[in-house]
Amino acid sequence: MNIPIITIDGPSASGKGTIAEKVAARLGFHVLDSGALYRLTALHALRQGVDLSDEAALAALAAELPAEFRAGEVWLGGEQVTQAIRAEAVGEGASRVAALPAVREALLARQRAYAQAPGLVADGRDMGTVVFPAAQTKVFLTASPEARAARRHKQLIEKGNPANLADLVRDMRARDARDAQRAVAPLKPAPDALVLDSTAMNIDQVVEAVLEGHRASRG
Ligand code: DC
Repeated sequence: MNIPIITIDGPSASGKGTIAEKVAARLGFHVLDSGALYRLTALHALRQGVDLSDEAALAALAAELPAEFRAGEVWLGGEQVTQAIRAEAVGEGASRVAALPAVREALLARQRAYAQAPGLVADGRDMGTVVFPAAQTKVFLTASPEARAARRHKQLIEKGNPANLADLVRDMRARDARDAQRAVAPLKPAPDALVLDSTAMNIDQVVEAVLEGHRASRG
Protein backbone atom coordinates (compact mmCIF):
# COMPACT_ATOMS: atom_id res chain seq x y z
CA MET A 1 0.00 0.00 0.00
CA ASN A 2 2.36 2.68 -1.16
CA ILE A 3 0.18 5.00 -3.22
CA PRO A 4 2.15 7.84 -4.83
CA ILE A 5 0.82 11.20 -3.63
CA ILE A 6 1.74 14.66 -4.89
CA THR A 7 0.60 17.48 -2.62
CA ILE A 8 0.27 21.03 -3.92
CA ASP A 9 -0.28 23.63 -1.20
CA GLY A 10 -0.30 27.38 -1.46
CA PRO A 11 -2.30 30.57 -1.06
CA SER A 12 -5.56 31.45 -2.76
CA ALA A 13 -5.39 31.97 -6.56
CA SER A 14 -1.84 30.64 -6.83
CA GLY A 15 -3.07 28.33 -9.61
CA LYS A 16 -3.00 25.16 -7.50
CA GLY A 17 -6.29 23.79 -8.87
CA THR A 18 -5.29 24.19 -12.52
CA ILE A 19 -1.83 22.76 -11.91
CA ALA A 20 -3.21 19.82 -9.89
CA GLU A 21 -5.68 18.93 -12.70
CA LYS A 22 -2.99 19.08 -15.38
CA VAL A 23 -0.40 17.12 -13.40
CA ALA A 24 -3.05 14.47 -12.55
CA ALA A 25 -4.08 14.21 -16.22
CA ARG A 26 -0.45 13.72 -17.28
CA LEU A 27 0.08 10.92 -14.75
CA GLY A 28 -3.42 9.37 -14.86
CA PHE A 29 -3.79 10.10 -11.12
CA HIS A 30 -6.90 11.01 -9.11
CA VAL A 31 -7.29 14.58 -7.91
CA LEU A 32 -8.52 16.02 -4.62
CA ASP A 33 -9.55 19.70 -4.46
CA SER A 34 -9.63 19.98 -0.67
CA GLY A 35 -10.66 23.65 -0.77
CA ALA A 36 -13.91 22.53 -2.41
CA LEU A 37 -14.75 20.54 0.75
CA TYR A 38 -14.38 23.68 2.89
CA ARG A 39 -16.40 25.66 0.35
CA LEU A 40 -19.12 22.96 0.34
CA THR A 41 -19.23 23.00 4.14
CA ALA A 42 -19.69 26.79 4.10
CA LEU A 43 -22.34 26.69 1.36
CA HIS A 44 -24.24 23.90 3.12
CA ALA A 45 -24.14 25.86 6.40
CA LEU A 46 -25.30 29.10 4.74
CA ARG A 47 -28.22 27.26 3.11
CA GLN A 48 -29.19 25.43 6.30
CA GLY A 49 -28.99 28.63 8.32
CA VAL A 50 -26.16 27.29 10.51
CA ASP A 51 -24.12 30.04 12.12
CA LEU A 52 -20.55 30.15 10.75
CA SER A 53 -19.16 30.30 14.27
CA ASP A 54 -21.10 27.28 15.63
CA GLU A 55 -18.16 24.87 15.60
CA ALA A 56 -20.02 21.73 16.75
CA ALA A 57 -22.88 22.18 14.27
CA LEU A 58 -20.45 22.92 11.43
CA ALA A 59 -18.34 19.84 12.24
CA ALA A 60 -21.51 17.70 12.16
CA LEU A 61 -22.40 19.17 8.75
CA ALA A 62 -18.86 18.57 7.45
CA ALA A 63 -18.90 14.94 8.63
CA GLU A 64 -22.16 14.25 6.79
CA LEU A 65 -21.61 16.44 3.73
CA PRO A 66 -23.79 14.98 0.93
CA ALA A 67 -21.16 15.98 -1.64
CA GLU A 68 -20.01 14.30 -4.82
CA PHE A 69 -17.42 15.13 -7.47
CA ARG A 70 -18.39 13.86 -10.92
CA ALA A 71 -16.58 14.59 -14.18
CA GLY A 72 -15.50 18.11 -13.26
CA GLU A 73 -18.83 18.92 -11.57
CA VAL A 74 -19.51 19.39 -7.87
CA TRP A 75 -22.82 18.21 -6.42
CA LEU A 76 -24.36 18.86 -3.02
CA GLY A 77 -27.41 16.80 -2.08
CA GLY A 78 -28.65 16.40 -5.65
CA GLU A 79 -27.90 19.98 -6.70
CA GLN A 80 -25.11 21.00 -9.05
CA VAL A 81 -23.07 23.65 -7.20
CA THR A 82 -19.90 23.83 -9.33
CA GLN A 83 -20.28 27.61 -9.82
CA ALA A 84 -22.06 28.37 -6.54
CA ILE A 85 -19.08 27.23 -4.42
CA ARG A 86 -16.80 29.66 -6.31
CA ALA A 87 -18.74 32.77 -5.23
CA GLU A 88 -16.65 35.20 -3.17
CA ALA A 89 -19.10 35.00 -0.25
CA VAL A 90 -18.69 31.22 -0.13
CA GLY A 91 -14.88 31.56 -0.29
CA GLU A 92 -15.07 33.99 2.59
CA GLY A 93 -17.25 31.54 4.57
CA ALA A 94 -14.87 28.68 3.71
CA SER A 95 -11.95 30.63 5.15
CA ARG A 96 -13.92 31.06 8.40
CA VAL A 97 -15.05 27.45 8.78
CA ALA A 98 -11.54 26.25 7.85
CA ALA A 99 -10.19 27.96 10.98
CA LEU A 100 -12.24 25.65 13.24
CA PRO A 101 -10.34 22.54 14.45
CA ALA A 102 -13.45 20.31 14.70
CA VAL A 103 -14.36 21.06 11.08
CA ARG A 104 -10.83 20.19 9.90
CA GLU A 105 -10.92 16.98 11.92
CA ALA A 106 -14.32 16.04 10.47
CA LEU A 107 -12.95 16.35 6.92
CA LEU A 108 -9.71 14.44 7.53
CA ALA A 109 -10.85 10.85 6.88
CA ARG A 110 -12.77 11.91 3.81
CA GLN A 111 -9.66 13.55 2.32
CA ARG A 112 -7.42 10.56 3.09
CA ALA A 113 -9.88 8.22 1.36
CA TYR A 114 -8.87 9.83 -1.96
CA ALA A 115 -5.45 8.15 -1.81
CA GLN A 116 -6.22 5.40 -4.34
CA ALA A 117 -4.13 3.64 -6.99
CA PRO A 118 -2.56 4.61 -9.31
CA GLY A 119 -1.95 7.84 -7.38
CA LEU A 120 -3.32 11.16 -6.14
CA VAL A 121 -2.64 14.84 -6.68
CA ALA A 122 -4.10 16.75 -3.70
CA ASP A 123 -4.29 20.53 -3.58
CA GLY A 124 -5.01 22.78 -0.63
CA ARG A 125 -3.27 24.46 2.29
CA ASP A 126 -2.25 21.56 4.54
CA MET A 127 -2.02 18.59 2.18
CA GLY A 128 1.74 18.11 2.73
CA THR A 129 1.83 19.21 6.37
CA VAL A 130 -1.24 17.55 7.95
CA VAL A 131 -3.38 15.40 5.65
CA PHE A 132 -0.64 13.52 3.74
CA PRO A 133 2.58 14.12 5.71
CA ALA A 134 4.18 11.02 4.12
CA ALA A 135 3.46 12.15 0.53
CA GLN A 136 6.22 11.34 -1.90
CA THR A 137 6.26 14.74 -3.59
CA LYS A 138 5.32 17.99 -1.89
CA VAL A 139 5.03 21.31 -3.68
CA PHE A 140 4.35 24.74 -2.20
CA LEU A 141 3.08 26.97 -4.98
CA THR A 142 3.08 30.68 -4.44
CA ALA A 143 2.98 33.97 -6.39
CA SER A 144 2.89 37.63 -5.36
CA PRO A 145 -0.52 38.92 -4.10
CA GLU A 146 -0.55 41.32 -7.08
CA ALA A 147 -0.02 38.50 -9.59
CA ARG A 148 -2.69 36.36 -7.93
CA ALA A 149 -5.18 39.26 -7.78
CA ALA A 150 -4.51 40.01 -11.48
CA ARG A 151 -5.24 36.35 -12.40
CA ARG A 152 -8.46 36.33 -10.37
CA HIS A 153 -9.45 39.69 -11.93
CA LYS A 154 -8.97 38.30 -15.44
CA GLN A 155 -11.06 35.20 -14.62
CA LEU A 156 -13.90 37.28 -13.16
CA ILE A 157 -13.97 39.72 -16.09
CA GLU A 158 -13.91 36.86 -18.60
CA LYS A 159 -16.96 35.37 -16.91
CA GLY A 160 -18.72 38.74 -17.09
CA ASN A 161 -18.51 39.45 -13.36
CA PRO A 162 -17.69 42.90 -12.02
CA ALA A 163 -14.23 43.04 -10.43
CA ASN A 164 -11.96 45.70 -8.97
CA LEU A 165 -8.25 44.97 -8.94
CA ALA A 166 -7.41 47.06 -5.86
CA ASP A 167 -10.20 45.36 -3.87
CA LEU A 168 -8.96 41.94 -4.97
CA VAL A 169 -5.36 42.70 -3.86
CA ARG A 170 -6.69 43.85 -0.48
CA ASP A 171 -8.93 40.77 -0.08
CA MET A 172 -6.08 38.48 -1.15
CA ARG A 173 -3.78 39.91 1.55
CA ALA A 174 -6.50 39.62 4.21
CA ARG A 175 -7.29 36.00 3.27
CA ASP A 176 -3.55 35.13 3.21
CA ALA A 177 -3.08 36.59 6.67
CA ARG A 178 -6.02 34.64 8.08
CA ASP A 179 -4.97 31.34 6.44
CA ALA A 180 -1.32 31.77 7.57
CA GLN A 181 -2.03 32.94 11.12
CA ARG A 182 -4.74 30.55 12.22
CA ALA A 183 -3.85 28.23 15.07
CA VAL A 184 -4.72 24.95 13.31
CA ALA A 185 -3.07 23.82 10.08
CA PRO A 186 -1.79 27.27 9.11
CA LEU A 187 -0.66 27.81 5.54
CA LYS A 188 3.06 27.12 5.46
CA PRO A 189 5.38 24.99 3.32
CA ALA A 190 6.22 21.50 4.61
CA PRO A 191 9.94 21.38 5.51
CA ASP A 192 10.49 18.96 2.61
CA ALA A 193 8.40 20.88 0.04
CA LEU A 194 9.66 22.12 -3.29
CA VAL A 195 8.78 25.84 -3.21
CA LEU A 196 7.74 27.23 -6.60
CA ASP A 197 7.09 30.95 -7.14
CA SER A 198 4.90 31.16 -10.24
CA THR A 199 4.82 34.99 -10.46
CA ALA A 200 6.90 34.89 -13.65
CA MET A 201 6.02 31.35 -14.83
CA ASN A 202 3.27 30.18 -17.16
CA ILE A 203 1.04 27.16 -16.45
CA ASP A 204 3.04 24.74 -18.59
CA GLN A 205 6.31 25.73 -16.91
CA VAL A 206 4.80 25.10 -13.46
CA VAL A 207 3.36 21.72 -14.57
CA GLU A 208 6.79 20.67 -15.89
CA ALA A 209 8.49 21.80 -12.66
CA VAL A 210 6.06 19.73 -10.56
CA LEU A 211 6.51 16.64 -12.78
CA GLU A 212 10.30 17.11 -12.61
CA GLY A 213 10.08 17.32 -8.80
CA HIS A 214 8.01 14.13 -8.79
CA ARG A 215 10.50 12.28 -11.02
CA ALA A 216 13.35 13.40 -8.75
CA SER A 217 11.51 12.23 -5.60
CA ARG A 218 11.08 8.76 -7.08
CA GLY A 219 14.87 8.60 -7.31
O1 DC B 1 -8.39 26.87 -2.23
P1 DC B 1 -9.74 27.47 -1.97
O2 DC B 1 -9.77 28.96 -2.22
O3 DC B 1 -10.85 26.76 -2.67
O4 DC B 1 -9.99 27.27 -0.39
C1 DC B 1 -11.12 27.80 0.26
C2 DC B 1 -10.80 28.06 1.73
O5 DC B 1 -10.58 26.82 2.41
C3 DC B 1 -9.57 28.91 1.97
O6 DC B 1 -9.90 30.07 2.73
C4 DC B 1 -8.63 28.07 2.79
C5 DC B 1 -9.40 26.86 3.18
N1 DC B 1 -8.64 25.62 2.96
C6 DC B 1 -7.98 25.09 4.03
O7 DC B 1 -7.98 25.67 5.11
N2 DC B 1 -7.31 23.90 3.90
C7 DC B 1 -7.27 23.27 2.73
N3 DC B 1 -6.62 22.13 2.61
C8 DC B 1 -7.93 23.83 1.59
C9 DC B 1 -8.61 25.02 1.75
